Amino acid sequence: MRTTIRLAMLAALATLPALAQPAAPAPTVDVAIDTNAPGAVIDRHIYGQFAEHLGRGIYEGIWVGPNSKIPNIKGYRKDVVAALKAIHVPVVRWPGGCFADNYDWRDGIGPRAKRPARINVNWGDVTEDNSFGTHEYMDLMELLGADAYVSVNVGSMTPLDAQRWIEYITSDQKATLANERRRNGRDKPWNLKYIGIGNETWGCGGNMSPEVAASNNAKFTGYIRTPADMGTIKVASGASGNVGDPNPFTEALMKDGGRLQALSFHYYAMPSARGPKGPATGFGENLWAQELSLTLKLEDYVSSTIAVMDKYDPQKRVPLYVDEYGSWYDQEPGSHPGFLYQQNTIRDAEVAALSLNIFHRHTDRVKLAAIAQMVNVLQAMILTDKEKMILTPTYHVFDLYQPFMDATPYKATVSNATYAYGDTKLPLIDVSAARAKDGKLYLAIVNTDPHRAVTVRTALTGSATGRILAGAAMDAHNSFTAPNAVHPVAFSGVSEGGKLVFHMPPMAVAVVAVN
Ligand code: AHR
Repeated sequence: MRTTIRLAMLAALATLPALAQPAAPAPTVDVAIDTNAPGAVIDRHIYGQFAEHLGRGIYEGIWVGPNSKIPNIKGYRKDVVAALKAIHVPVVRWPGGCFADNYDWRDGIGPRAKRPARINVNWGDVTEDNSFGTHEYMDLMELLGADAYVSVNVGSMTPLDAQRWIEYITSDQKATLANERRRNGRDKPWNLKYIGIGNETWGCGGNMSPEVAASNNAKFTGYIRTPADMGTIKVASGASGNVGDPNPFTEALMKDGGRLQALSFHYYAMPSARGPKGPATGFGENLWAQELSLTLKLEDYVSSTIAVMDKYDPQKRVPLYVDEYGSWYDQEPGSHPGFLYQQNTIRDAEVAALSLNIFHRHTDRVKLAAIAQMVNVLQAMILTDKEKMILTPTYHVFDLYQPFMDATPYKATVSNATYAYGDTKLPLIDVSAARAKDGKLYLAIVNTDPHRAVTVRTALTGSATGRILAGAAMDAHNSFTAPNAVHPVAFSGVSEGGKLVFHMPPMAVAVVAVN
């Protein structure tokens, strides 16, 4: 009963912007789930995060130092750590991004007071005091229970520099670098699951042609070693969907990149690479439709990248890691130039949900993804303002989707129905279905229409309960004065004619378990 009332209130709230117009009838969409053809397991690492030395992503966002008045655990913000633990972050990619190829790992070890100050030339020319370095990052991974993903400097340092950093992190021998690590306070080697061989080598990571990038990857991977039993995966820095045709770059790496263990891909749902990108809040429906349409292009890029990979690796031995993706708008007015700080709305919740659903549809190849970025940068999970912290709608999607970690996906076919704005047309409803480790069937349902409620009809029987995230406006968001404006509430399916039906309010993301 309480659920029904909440749902009715939510639907009423969510349709508020449409009140001036005649109420549009709720269209019905049919969804068929094929449980006879399970796909490859959804690797939990597709729920990964990216954290770069950029703006307030690391400093203030995660690291405040042990002497801060902000409550902290050995320098890490308590509130942020607790929020990240609650969504079971599986992996965090660090230190960049473009920052990685200007980073000398030696700047970030040893007593903090003695570490050199450098200029962060990529992001706002601010002073980087290096108080967050290798020990702070690796210890954070242990605190979060997340796997470490370190991207080495390929653009402006040598393979030997990279090898020495990795040896410092992973060696248990009585050799100089491991001994230095011990003197710096860490006896045991850390476990390093992933090594990124540079970042965007076609751009800020060295401006390399596809051929040069491929041979450079072969060279660096050959020199970088970790103990065999660590099972570290070296990730070749791959193409991007934001800079022309990505396929030749993928092709070159697959052909001549050496023995690839994984290949990365980047794509931002970014309205324009160079010009204005539009605001994160206060936008019109044209930008709502455009952003979701840009998000859905990720599926085309993933499919075409996989097609190239299939040519060279038909056995699908090399996984694809989408280790930067998400929304990218104009940064908030008044925020520090170069800090890429943007608000996060129900539109971003849809970007996150649609992206995760895309990854669920390509689990045979996509084994890791990292949304950009974890705190205070681009499509963040968490925003902070000094001692205050808020969880974004994107965070809530990652929370709702937790049952999909390590679940077995099923093909979901949605009947043809579109949401259209001007020339932009999108599927009205997007669905992902999977059998979770608890044995239950879970559905993730996204209604892309900002005005119309939709009746989603399945052929399933029984009952279904879960949670839904919806907004009262296209730019509904949480702020430091209204931190809980957008949050998930209880949601259930209803049985109609013996079949499970979901009454989805406009612009909403729901995750339910079928009982
Ligand atoms: O995430 C911000 C930047 O976007 C990263 O540093 C770079 O890899 C990408 O172009």
